[in-house]
Amino acid sequence: MDNIILIGFMGAGKTSVGKEYALKYQKSFLDTDQLLEQKAGMKIPQIFEQHGEAHFRMLETEVLRDLLLSCRASVLSVGGGLPVKEENRRLLKQLGTVIYLQTDADTVLERLKGFKNRPLLKGNDRREKILQLMEARSGIYSEAADYEIQTVGRTVVQVAEEINKVVVK
Ligand code: S3P
Repeated sequence: MDNIILIGFMGAGKTSVGKEYALKYQKSFLDTDQLLEQKAGMKIPQIFEQHGEAHFRMLETEVLRDLLLSCRASVLSVGGGLPVKEENRRLLKQLGTVIYLQTDADTVLERLKGFKNRPLLKGNDRREKILQLMEARSGIYSEAADYEIQTVGRTVVQVAEEINKVVVK
């Protein structure tokens, strides 16, 4: 289906890098979080608050199924928790080339400083929450991905170039 799919932890740069790549290589850019908010008619923190995480996860799978019918030759940024569900990993593989953007806890903390729109990082001890989630997820991201790219210490433009290297290989 010729799509490029960016997965990885919150703050890995999936959206910024995806937009940069799409602009440079003239592709459409899509974001599962944004599509999900449109479908639900509300913002992610509101969905978590009013309907809970399980409902949010169900909507993520619905968004992926919709994308399988419509998404071609695009760059897709995927919510950080989406690949955790096995069914979603299968759908991602069907959609295109999956690239895992790697990062570390300190970089995530820095990149998300001041952002309050991540329900899973609400409250105190943000660093501890990030570390725990990262430990639980990094193997899953690797399993879901065709390629892995390190983003720590690299600019958005540099990471977009790395993506180009692996997809044109
Ligand atoms: C989540 C990541 C968020 C968003 C939601 C849950 C997660 O997306 O889908 O807050 O479980 O890691 P980003 O990875 O784009 O921040």
